[in-house]
Amino acid sequence: MKEKSESSRRSFLKKIGLATAATAVGPNLIAAGKSTPLFYIKRSGGHSANDNINLALIGAGGQGSSDTNTALQVPGIKLVAVCDLYDGRLADAKKRWGNDIFTTKVYKEILTRPDVDAVIIGTPDHWHQTISVDAMHAGKHVYCEKPMVHGISEGPAVIKAQQDTGKIFQVGSQGVSSLGNEKAKELLKAGAIGQLNYAEGFWARRSPVEVWQYPIPADASPQTVDWDTYVSNTHKRPFDEKRFFRWRNYTDYGTGMCGDLFVHLFSSLHFITGSMGPEKIYAAGGLRFWNDGREVPDVLLGTFDYGQSAIHPAFNLSLRCNFVDGTSGSTYLRLVGSEGAMDITWDEVVLKRNKLFESDDPFYTEKMKNSPDLAPERKHMLPPEEITYAAEKGYLGGPYDHLNNFFTAIRTNGKVTEDAIFGYRAAAPALLCNDSYFKNTPMHWDPVNMVMKG
Ligand SMILES: NC(=O)c1ccc[n+]([C@@H]2O[C@H](COP(=O)([O-])OP(=O)(O)OC[C@H]3O[C@@H](n4cnc5c(N)ncnc54)[C@H](O)[C@@H]3O)[C@@H](O)[C@H]2O)c1
Repeated sequence: MKEKSESSRRSFLKKIGLATAATAVGPNLIAAGKSTPLFYIKRSGGHSANDNINLALIGAGGQGSSDTNTALQVPGIKLVAVCDLYDGRLADAKKRWGNDIFTTKVYKEILTRPDVDAVIIGTPDHWHQTISVDAMHAGKHVYCEKPMVHGISEGPAVIKAQQDTGKIFQVGSQGVSSLGNEKAKELLKAGAIGQLNYAEGFWARRSPVEVWQYPIPADASPQTVDWDTYVSNTHKRPFDEKRFFRWRNYTDYGTGMCGDLFVHLFSSLHFITGSMGPEKIYAAGGLRFWNDGREVPDVLLGTFDYGQSAIHPAFNLSLRCNFVDGTSGSTYLRLVGSEGAMDITWDEVVLKRNKLFESDDPFYTEKMKNSPDLAPERKHMLPPEEITYAAEKGYLGGPYDHLNNFFTAIRTNGKVTEDAIFGYRAAAPALLCNDSYFKNTPMHWDPVNMVMKG
């Protein structure tokens, strides 16, 4: 066992070139002032802007606006129209992006415009499916925010629309296009952590805005908000400003911690491991503190069984989210294997390896072969236990890479990282985790055929 471990360690070290690390690492280490080995990660090659792409934004809130600002950094992208159901957002859009953009409260008016090539959908979750399907059928390419859909039954229609129309469709879990996720995928494949057996993700939050108690604009009213359209595809209720501006807390519109946060980790985990998803999903949690009328838990644990597949061994995933965490501010994704672990962010991977002794010194190795008991008390030269891969300074980040990936696919009629099938396989276990919590029972999923089991 030990022998196998050591030989796979050696082969991994060779693959990442650590045998010659002294020269490769030196300057970076000095520059970064770090005591652990550090490698910079960067992209090879860039993209050239060929055709201009006219963009429209549907749902001009926090994330839609942020996506649009990022998209506008990509050469050749122009914003021509914005749709939102709240007057204040439309006025902000004109202030931010210019008076000449077309604004409307009716998303179909965006879809019938011949000058729009692609749309970003940044609405609350309960509108993702309908607008995505309508947009693709209207001939638009779509960048839809995560989670791709609001309910488990909604996914197949989006997949079908993508297949029927041939439009480019990307889901907005931007981490999957990041240097960090790319490096983690490469390291896992190279055997850096041995055989994967466990993964975990965690979010800790505490401040009211972080946990979805957003400020409500002073002018919020049925005159400034198109409430009837907002609830037209779900339960009809009288105007409720909290349900509009703090939609994440209500199941008619949002998808709780699972659809909001867990889905990012499913996307990254599936990208890094090549997995299609878990087979068994169970949740535990409760509403412990934020008794503000919310319908979703503020502490949630999700446990997920990934079965063996052709590309990965069986492993377990544990996801945790705590909105009453006094430590606050921590988020991580960790993959654990038989020989080490990786902590993964969008711009950094910290690889920790176990302490099995190994030397790349051929003289020493030969000596050990002939006299294995030679001077056992003598201290050994040890390889590094922790290696940090960090993005080069000036890296534009996962959000830029993900939108650039979308626009490049449009320009080249190529493929995106997170198409409708990928997006559904990431959303499904998140949505089923909610179902497990509310139904108080494990959920069974067939990730290959994307259907419920049992
Ligand atoms: N990728 C990420 O990191 C990330 C981060 C935050 C949010 N998100 C996702 O982005 C989406 C929006 O989240 P947010 O935080 O920006 O919410 P938000 O409330 O700030 O923005 C939503 C906007 O959509 C508008 N809207 C609602 N229904 C609409 C409709 N039918 N047509 C047009 N506009 C409509 C609202 O008026 C609002 O301005 C969600 O799906 C969320 O999960 C993704």
